[in-house]
Amino acid sequence: MTRHADAIEALSHLDQRLDPPGNVLEAARVKDDQAWYREWEADPEAFWERAADELHWFERWQQAMQIDGSSHRWFVGGRTNLSYNCLERNIERGLGDKVALHAECEDQPPRDYSYSEILEQVSRTANVLRGLGVGEGDRVVIYMPLSPEGLFTMQACVRLGAVHSVVYAGMGEGALRHRVEDSGARVLVCADLTYRRGAVVPLKPIVDAALAGLEQVEHVIVWRRDEATTLAPGELDFERELAAAEPACAAVAVDAEHPAFMLYTSGTTGSPKGVVHVHGGYAVGVHLLMTHYFDVGESDTWWSTSDIGWIVGHSYICYGPMMAGATQVIREGAPDYPDAGITWQLVDKYSVTALFTAPTAVRMFMRAGEKALADSDRSTLRLLFCAGEPFNPEAWLWAAKNLAPAGHVVDNYWQTEIASPMIGTFACMQGRPGWAGRAMPGIKLKVVDEAGGRMDDGEGGTLVMEQPVPWMMQTIWQDDERYQSCFSERLGGYVTGDIAVRDNEGYWAVLGRSDDVLNVAGHRIGTADVESSLISHPAVSESAAIGLPDELKGERIKVFVVAANGYEQGADLSDELRKHVSRELGPIARPSELDFVDTLPKTRSGKIMRRLLRARELGLDEGDTSTLED
Ligand code: PRX
Repeated sequence: MTRHADAIEALSHLDQRLDPPGNVLEAARVKDDQAWYREWEADPEAFWERAADELHWFERWQQAMQIDGSSHRWFVGGRTNLSYNCLERNIERGLGDKVALHAECEDQPPRDYSYSEILEQVSRTANVLRGLGVGEGDRVVIYMPLSPEGLFTMQACVRLGAVHSVVYAGMGEGALRHRVEDSGARVLVCADLTYRRGAVVPLKPIVDAALAGLEQVEHVIVWRRDEATTLAPGELDFERELAAAEPACAAVAVDAEHPAFMLYTSGTTGSPKGVVHVHGGYAVGVHLLMTHYFDVGESDTWWSTSDIGWIVGHSYICYGPMMAGATQVIREGAPDYPDAGITWQLVDKYSVTALFTAPTAVRMFMRAGEKALADSDRSTLRLLFCAGEPFNPEAWLWAAKNLAPAGHVVDNYWQTEIASPMIGTFACMQGRPGWAGRAMPGIKLKVVDEAGGRMDDGEGGTLVMEQPVPWMMQTIWQDDERYQSCFSERLGGYVTGDIAVRDNEGYWAVLGRSDDVLNVAGHRIGTADVESSLISHPAVSESAAIGLPDELKGERIKVFVVAANGYEQGADLSDELRKHVSRELGPIARPSELDFVDTLPKTRSGKIMRRLLRARELGLDEGDTSTLED
C-alpha cells in the first residue's frame, strides 16, 4: 500500500486548476454537474425513465428499476434493440444521409458511410449470419480490426438478438481459443490481416491455430483484404456473402434484459471472465453519458482512438456515437504512424470536436514533441477525454497546452464491468490534473478499509460502488457465482479492484489497482493470465508476474520463472518464453523482463507473494512478511 500512500501525499501538493474555456462552457449540455446529480438522487426512477424515453422501445417497460443487492434489472418488461437505436431511430429523425462514419486506415484509402448505408451493410451482414442459423442468444466471435466491417458485424449480431464476443485482433491464439471455447460460439467472423505501423499483420494464421481441433465452430467467415488469402473448404468470403444477401433486415425486438454482448476481461484470479451487457440498461446508460457527459450531439464529430476489442470501442465507437446521431472518425493503425502528426492532421481534416484517447497516447505525443503538431491547428477540438489508467498531471497539463489549445482536457474513470464512466470531469467542471472528477448520477461510491470501514475524505482505500447502475454488467457468462463474488457484504457493495481517494470538493482520484491486475498502456492484463501462459510452456515449472512503473506505458511486465529440470536458463530460453507469452496472449502481454529464480516467495498456504517481489524490485519497504513460508 506504500505506493498509494505516497501518491496521496503527492496529490495534496497538486493544485493546478484548469477552467473550461468560455465556448466549452457555453456549449455544455450539463451546466452544473452537481445539480444534475441531485436530480437523480431526488427521484432515481423518474431520472432513468426520462433517459430511457429518449430511445426507441418496441414495447414500453412496466417498471424502470428492480434492485436487490447484486441483482439489478432495468426497464423490466420493455422491448427494444440496441442496433435499432443506433440506426433506424436516427434515419427516422431525418439523419439517413448524414455521414456517420469517416473510416481511415494507415494503408487504405478513406471510406465514408451514411447512416442509411450503414443500415444496409449491417442488414446484409445480419442476413448472412441468419442464413447460418444465428438467432437470438447465439454467440458470435468477432476477430477483426477496427474497421467498418468490424462495426457492421457487431451491429448485425445485436440486430438479430445474437450475442457478440469481440476478441481484440492483437490477442494471441491461446487467448482467442479460450474465448471461443468459453462462449460456445458456432460462428466466427475474422479478417485475414490488419495494418499496423506500415506492416501487414496476418490474423488468419492466428485464427487457424486457435481453432485447430475445435469442433465447436461450424462456420468461419473471412473478410479477405488480400486476394491471395485462400479459404479452407467450408470457410466463407465475407464480401461475397454480403453482396449476395438481402439488403434489409428488421431489428429483432428483444427483452430489455436480453444480452447484447460479452467482453472478456482479466480479474484477480482464474481465466478472463466474459462480462455480459444487455440491450436496455446498457443503451440507456451509454446514450445518456454520450450526450450529457461526453457532450456529443448531432452537430459533433467524435473520435475515439480505442479499438473494438475493448469496452471503450463498444460503448464509445460502436454504439454511443451512433445512438447520439453524431459523425465519427475511426482509424485502423497506430496513432503515431507514419508520424505523430497524423492524428492531429485528421482532427483538422474532419473538424473533430471531441476526442477520446488514453494517457499512454498523450505521453507518446508528448515524447514526439511540439514539432509533430506544427502542421495542424486543432482549433475545432472542444473536448479531449482521457481514460483507462491514471492520467499523470504532467501529461494532462501538456495536453491542455498543446493538443487542445482551444478546448478542455478531462479525465474519466470506468471499467469493462461498468461500461460507461463512473467518475469524470464534466465539460462544465474545473479540470484538476491528478483527479478524475466527480461521480456520475446513479453512481454512489465510497472508500473503505479492509474491514469495510468507511474512510474519510483525503484517506485512500478500496473503491466500492454501493449500488448498481443501468450500464453495469448483468452477469458473467456462464458463471453467475463469479459475478456475485464481485460484490462483498463486508465491504458493502461492488468492489472495483481500485484504490481511490476523495477530497472535500467531491473530486475522486483513482490511484491504481488493489489486486493482481496490471495496466499496461491502458490495457488490462491479469498476472494470472501471464503466469498460466508461462506455465503452459514445458520449460517452466513456476512463475510470477508483477508490474513495474513505466514512464510511457504506466506499467510494464516483469516475470520470475522457476525453470523445469533439464532446461538451460539463459538468454535463449528467456527470449523463447517471452515470445511464447506474446504468441499465446498477444504482443501487449509480452514481458519486458524475465528473471530465472530458484524459488518464489509464497505464503504458507501456497499463494505467491507478488507484493514482496515488487517491493524488492523497487527497493521499497517489504511490509508484513510474517505469512512468508520461506
Ligand atoms: O484500474 C482502473 C483503470 O482501468 C481499469 C479498467 O480497465 P478496463 O476494464 O480496460 O476499462 C477501461 C475503461 C476506460 C480500472 O479498474 N482506469 C480506468 N480509467 C482510469 C483508470 N485508472 C485511473 N484513472 C482513470 N481515469
